[in-house]
Amino acid sequence: MEQFFFEVPGIARKSEAIAFIHEFHEFGSEINGTGGLHRYLDNYEGWLEKLNKDYSREPSEEKVPARTFFLIRANDNKIIGMINIRLALNERLRHYGGHIGYSIRPTERGKGYNKINLYLALKVCEQHGIESVFMDADLNNPASWRTMESLGGKRIREYYDDINAHCIVVDYCIDVKKALEEHSELESVILCQNVK
Ligand SMILES: CC(C)(COP(=O)(O)OP(=O)(O)OC[C@H]1O[C@@H](n2cnc3c(N)ncnc32)[C@H](O)[C@@H]1OP(=O)(O)O)[C@@H](O)C(=O)NCCC(=O)NCCS
Repeated sequence: MEQFFFEVPGIARKSEAIAFIHEFHEFGSEINGTGGLHRYLDNYEGWLEKLNKDYSREPSEEKVPARTFFLIRANDNKIIGMINIRLALNERLRHYGGHIGYSIRPTERGKGYNKINLYLALKVCEQHGIESVFMDADLNNPASWRTMESLGGKRIREYYDDINAHCIVVDYCIDVKKALEEHSELESVILCQNVK
């Protein structure tokens, strides 16, 4: 059986992480949830430092504390996806962006992996005392909002966003405790770990 875990990015994955981003470029894919890795391809060490700052920062209207993880498939120790979890929301994120951004690498999509990615993220949110997760997606990105719905996400708003996305955006909220309770079958595909 395939199993997965979150890993805090470190130096050991440098070349693999860069190759991961190259795959998105190769496929002309959107990149989300990488904590800005795609802007640091020539300064991976600088990106690791940035992630440390992201985690320890005080929330402000400018920036909020955040965690970025690699989603690793244990069977072949491969980076399958990434996720960025905002541990607090400011006014800007409360309106657009929300708690979580994510990506699955183009060659591994459509296999249910993003559901596992989001489930693991909800566990991290629970550890940080976040009871209700706010997320959004472009309406024309069903793989993203269906992931939210697959974990019980409720659509709370649909609107044309003429500021950020310039398309119809759908807002979702997920009751963290309920999602984890109702989808505990996913525990079998998760390797026990201690990231927070
Ligand atoms: C969004 C994304 C992370 C989804 O990853 P994925 O691994 O393909 O998603 P999953 O296989 O876990 O599927 C999640 C749900 O979307 C559905 N789905 C997957 N691909 C789909 C597609 N192309 N069209 C419609 N629905 C799709 C699945 O059926 C599943 O729904 P279900 O549980 O009701 O069956 C991936 O497409 C991606 O990385 N996109 C680029 C970055 C991005 O857009 N991120 C989101 C913005 S924050």
